[in-house]
Amino acid sequence: MAQLAAPRGGAAAGVLLAALLAAPFALASSAATGAQLPRAPKCILTGKWTNELNSNMTIFPVNLSSGMFTGSYLTAVTSSNRRIRKSPMHGSQQLLKGNGRFQPTFGFTVKWEFTESITVFVGQCFLDEDGRETLETMWLLRSKGESHGDNWKQTLVGTNTFRRLP
Ligand code: BTN
Repeated sequence: MAQLAAPRGGAAAGVLLAALLAAPFALASSAATGAQLPRAPKCILTGKWTNELNSNMTIFPVNLSSGMFTGSYLTAVTSSNRRIRKSPMHGSQQLLKGNGRFQPTFGFTVKWEFTESITVFVGQCFLDEDGRETLETMWLLRSKGESHGDNWKQTLVGTNTFRRLP
């Protein structure tokens, strides 16, 4: 049976999410591609997400031992004048469940394929009464400066809220 990471030094603090993972994930198919991704337990980030800018990301199956994941990000907007391309991302999420709902923190990095910029996101998955998941994030977008003197103006900061797509 799968187990989410147990803390060093004792099982007491680490609550297993065994029930969550006892059954194999159902397969959710994408109408567009026919590709199938396992439908993940709530707040395991595997799957497709969209934010208020209409950017979309796909997170490939999260490693349930380490919490690490890779994925792809298609932004709807850019601070450049380049043609937008889907870009790779990688990150990790916490797997330990404390008391109450499993509402883990996470972080990921997007290396843009069409600019020389990088964005890092940090956030938390929140689960509401109806079982809906919301990812609340903050991000830093670092663009490349032409000179050291330009360093001060190269980082944008913002927030994004993501919802899961079917
Ligand atoms: C760039 O313009 O250099 C790359 C694209 C940056 C897109 C940013 S990342 C933060 C914000 N959230 C999104 O979904 N897109 C923008």
